Amino acid sequence: MPAENRRSTRAFLPDPIAPETLREIFAKAQRAPSWCNIQPWRVAVTQPPFTAQLAAACTSAAKSGFPSSDLPFPLDYPEPYLAHRRACGGALYQAMGVARDDKAGRYDAWLRNYAFFDAPHVAIVSVDRRLMPYALIDVGVWLGMLLDELDGAGIDSCPMASVAAYPAPLRAHLPIAETDAILFGLALGHADPHAPANACRTTRDPVDNNVTFVQASRPDSR
Ligand SMILES: Cc1cc2nc3c(=O)[nH]c(=O)nc-3n(C[C@H](O)[C@H](O)[C@H](O)COP(=O)(O)O)c2cc1C
Repeated sequence: MPAENRRSTRAFLPDPIAPETLREIFAKAQRAPSWCNIQPWRVAVTQPPFTAQLAAACTSAAKSGFPSSDLPFPLDYPEPYLAHRRACGGALYQAMGVARDDKAGRYDAWLRNYAFFDAPHVAIVSVDRRLMPYALIDVGVWLGMLLDELDGAGIDSCPMASVAAYPAPLRAHLPIAETDAILFGLALGHADPHAPANACRTTRDPVDNNVTFVQASRPDSR
């Protein structure tokens, strides 16, 4: 069941989640379907205090290094994706009180990704490079199910492709095979209800913008 109320959390309280609760949720997400049932998601989940050590290494890499994600990030977003992307960033900066021309404020907000928004746990998700590109769909299906399981258990989260831009500290500290491509991180914990960033809300297009309910074949395709 897609969760109506699930949303990304970008400021966490320090309280950890019980290891057995985390294990149970990830075990439920194992039910995700995948092509030929290959189950390609590979995940490393951290506990405190190690999460903060990893965050320090990632923040340092983001401050001083050049981004070099295992998979290329999109460079240009054509419409309508560009408008969605701008609205998403605009909603976050507005919630945080960061003005459009406040470069330092935007930089600080971006750096928060690498601190995993102070979450007590982060899951780093990768996939075997030899299975591209269809295994990416399988990992996306798994992520969707995992987000729903987390939401159902009252655990807040934020997927973060941003952390994949600096794979070196992740590889240095986590069991990630060279043959695997790092895809994204997932911050996990409980939202700080008073943090401005958590007031961010996003919208969705009406269903007809994405889904065409076809009545009959096109006359010109016969
Ligand atoms: C694969 C993936 C990667 C994402 N990467 C980031 C990220 O790096 N930083 C961030 O703040 N949010 C990230 N997000 C969260 C999206 O911005 C968010 O899901 C979207 O704006 C919709 O908002 P909602 O999750 O609150 O409904 C990511 C989401 C997904 C699914």
